[in-house]
Amino acid sequence: MCTTDIFDFLQQRRSIRKYKDKEVEPEKIERLLEAGVLAPSAGNSQPWRFKVIENQEIIEQLIEETMSAYNATWMSKGTPKLIAVCGNHTKIVDKYGERGKDLYIIQDTAAAIQNILLTAPTLGLGTCWIGAFNEKKAEEILNLNSPLRIYSFITVGYPKEKLGPRTSRKDLSEVVSYIK
Ligand SMILES: Cc1cc2nc3c(=O)[nH]c(=O)nc-3n(C[C@H](O)[C@H](O)[C@H](O)COP(=O)(O)O)c2cc1C
Repeated sequence: MCTTDIFDFLQQRRSIRKYKDKEVEPEKIERLLEAGVLAPSAGNSQPWRFKVIENQEIIEQLIEETMSAYNATWMSKGTPKLIAVCGNHTKIVDKYGERGKDLYIIQDTAAAIQNILLTAPTLGLGTCWIGAFNEKKAEEILNLNSPLRIYSFITVGYPKEKLGPRTSRKDLSEVVSYIK
């Protein structure tokens, strides 16, 4: 049984964009991926596929050619590992049609990403969810074709920064309404 208060833990989670020049152990990456695949998915279809990019030249190429146009210069200052979170839509389309492709696969991969993001601090790791990249170019570099699509990247490394809880969250009154 985990004794850490989940609410405190969620408050502490932050996107980390500065990493130490320290290798991330393969068993820690594997643990993150194990956490990812524990996520719920539509009909338990588990459409996620993960590419762990360990080759520093390919990481640099992805950053330079697919992300740098999106103000991602922080990444080129040392991103130890990149995980490409992909999805295979074949089965989910067979089962759920367009809704599977347009909606469920996005939600399924997002749930897996959030599991990874939340597990990282328990291993002393920091992460950042990356949605801004040139998808076509990234797929070319990683040699991926349909039915595989890259939904996001996650940067992973040992944090070089310690951030406090984010204070700029909207008040519940701005985002919640009750239907009585
Ligand atoms: C779908 C999605 C896409 C994101 N894309 C990027 C990105 O491309 N680059 C980046 O630096 N951060 C990205 N982020 C991280 C957000 O900027 C970050 O979560 C947000 O500012 C809140 O900060 P926090 O995670 O520290 O609470 C993304 C987050 C999500 C959920």
